Amino acid sequence: MGNSIKSKTEKEIHLMRQGGSILARALRKVVGHVVTGVSLKELDGYAQQYLEEAGGEAAFRGYQGSGGARSYPATLCASVNDEIVHGIGTRDIILKEGDIVGLDLGVRYPAKNGLYTDMAVTVGVGKISSEAATLMAVTQQALVRGIALVRPGQDIKVISKEIQLCAESYGYGVIRDLTGHGIGYALHEDPPIFNYDEKNAPSVILKEGMTVCIEPMISTGTWRVKVDPDGWTIRTADKSLAAHFEHTILVTAHGSEVITHF
Ligand code: MF3
Ligand code: CO
Repeated sequence: MGNSIKSKTEKEIHLMRQGGSILARALRKVVGHVVTGVSLKELDGYAQQYLEEAGGEAAFRGYQGSGGARSYPATLCASVNDEIVHGIGTRDIILKEGDIVGLDLGVRYPAKNGLYTDMAVTVGVGKISSEAATLMAVTQQALVRGIALVRPGQDIKVISKEIQLCAESYGYGVIRDLTGHGIGYALHEDPPIFNYDEKNAPSVILKEGMTVCIEPMISTGTWRVKVDPDGWTIRTADKSLAAHFEHTILVTAHGSEVITHF
């Protein structure tokens, strides 16, 4: 399986770098609007505006999930506190002091027939608890430690184990129902990149030119999840806090390049 995954061409990589920098700039500007009293809906509007202005197309809107759910209805995924991922960005939810919010955004660039990049950050609203701050720092650290292991010849399982070790050494739960993924021609390509040591995961060896998303999702409690009646919003089953960070990464000749530089 590992050898059937296509590496991107120089030209495709060039477009993904452009898309990645448009995406990172857009998300950074959205983060700048995160203050007490802002609604998710407003953040979604800003995200849509920034992507469009830059010649990109929102990658998540219209995405057809598995299991017959309705297609994704927003530009941004905004997931608050015990929400882990896929919180619908157009919801009428007002952020309040002490909340943490995961902001996940993807772009297709150029808008028509372009390539996909995808990234996420979790940020605090005003003053947050030390519990929340530590969770966010550890989740970001898990991503950084995973990225540090990306190079040609590396087995993806090594990255999965490192992320799990990072989270569990703090007593945190690693969300299992969702994974990272290959990316480029589509938002989700092979291989899946688990955030824990999944025994049934196919062994995949990274090659130069592959583009992948690594995205640890970590909770202060259980790894078990619950899906809201809206069919998208995924939260922790025990209502514990969750954080999510994600980058699109290119496998280079000797290591990696983060193409969604924040
Ligand atoms: N970053 C998320 C992912 O890679 C966002 C997907 S939202 C969806 O799965 F609506 F497109 F599913
Ligand atoms: Co992703």
